Amino acid sequence: MAVQIKKIAVITSGGDCQAMNAAIRAVVLAARKYDIEVVGISDGYYGMTYHYPEAFKALCADEVENIIGCGGTVLNSARFDEFEQDPEGIARRAAANLGKAGVEALVIIGGDGSFRGGLDLLKYCNIPCVGIPATIDNDIVSTEYTLGFDTALRNTIEVCDSLRDTCNSHKRCNVVEVMGRKAGQIALHAAIAVGASAVSIPEAPGAFDEDKVIDRMIEARRNGKRSFLVIFAEGAENTGLPENDKKAALDAAVRDYDEGKIDAKALTDVAFHNYKAKYSEQFVSTLRSRSLAAFEKYYAETGNIDFKGEYIETKFMRCAHMSRGGRPTTFDRVVAGHMGEAAIALIAEGKLNRVICVHDGRIADMDMVEAISVDSFYRKFRKTGSYDEAKYNELTDLQKKLFAYRLNVSEHLLATAAALSEI
Ligand code: F6P
Repeated sequence: MAVQIKKIAVITSGGDCQAMNAAIRAVVLAARKYDIEVVGISDGYYGMTYHYPEAFKALCADEVENIIGCGGTVLNSARFDEFEQDPEGIARRAAANLGKAGVEALVIIGGDGSFRGGLDLLKYCNIPCVGIPATIDNDIVSTEYTLGFDTALRNTIEVCDSLRDTCNSHKRCNVVEVMGRKAGQIALHAAIAVGASAVSIPEAPGAFDEDKVIDRMIEARRNGKRSFLVIFAEGAENTGLPENDKKAALDAAVRDYDEGKIDAKALTDVAFHNYKAKYSEQFVSTLRSRSLAAFEKYYAETGNIDFKGEYIETKFMRCAHMSRGGRPTTFDRVVAGHMGEAAIALIAEGKLNRVICVHDGRIADMDMVEAISVDSFYRKFRKTGSYDEAKYNELTDLQKKLFAYRLNVSEHLLATAAALSEI
């Protein structure tokens, strides 16, 4: 029979997200049923490593009262790169502090990087843990859902809807870059939900055909369409801009500047566009110049006064950290409750080193090493575009299913976004 764990710690780690508080609360309240004491550690692994005992605080029901609807995290969070650089050293130091506090197991509320930290604590110091997936990116392969995603989308969509109002009044386009690091989940869902004209995501750069998108937008404007929203994931890449073209564009601009044909600002714009700007920003200027040229020609051909000097005027908005804050949605609060409860039930049963997941729409759990290894397998595949057949065959059936789900989900959403595009 498993030894009953009597004292655990809970941390929130990595990028914060809404419903972290709801998950902390659920952990603390669910632990009462099993007489498990809970210690909250501030500032994630950093606080655990460097701030004993100040960062360690017993959490009882009173402490988590009224936090369910609050954004951020009452335990604060931190990114802690040093842990990656010296996993063994940091794990030993952190584990020594956990030992001093009498903590026998850890609940980690965070993303895949935070779970890796948990594995280091297990590997080097035999500290068991349970993970609760929380990141607005919804990019953890072991689970269909991560806390914060629904609320981040709510925030993103509110911004897009507001932009749509003013875009429509002024016959404009708004390019909106949304968060998600290397994942396009926020971008895809937002694009569908706000009726975007097009969406560009890192998982499928080729699916965003810049020329076709711009041609269709120009055509739509000729037919009277006033407003456009184009969504870019922050990790979207412009694969159609070869290094040679960038250099040629910059050389030409330098020549024009030397010959006095363009001013310093125009030269800086070219340099920024080709070398510094993210794809979302590049698209704004490409759309401007291409639509200006197209409507100049159209006006010359038709003499239609409505198109004199016309172009698709485009504003840019980076919908960044504001998507991570604010009160969590009902969905996030409820899922956080289920996840916190499930984590404590596992600990009480002595089922440790697992991560809580959503599989087929239901709360489930899986081995933490397997969860992290399928995550790494997928990320490697994304980076290289291929995978080693032998390594694939080593995956468990569950890992294969999760890998397939991850591949299909973006494709499926992309197809829906394209089918429902407003141009
Ligand atoms: O992982 C969540 C996330 O918000 C990503 O979408 C984004 O790329 C990153 O964190 C930003 O991190 P930071 O808060 O450290 O700037």
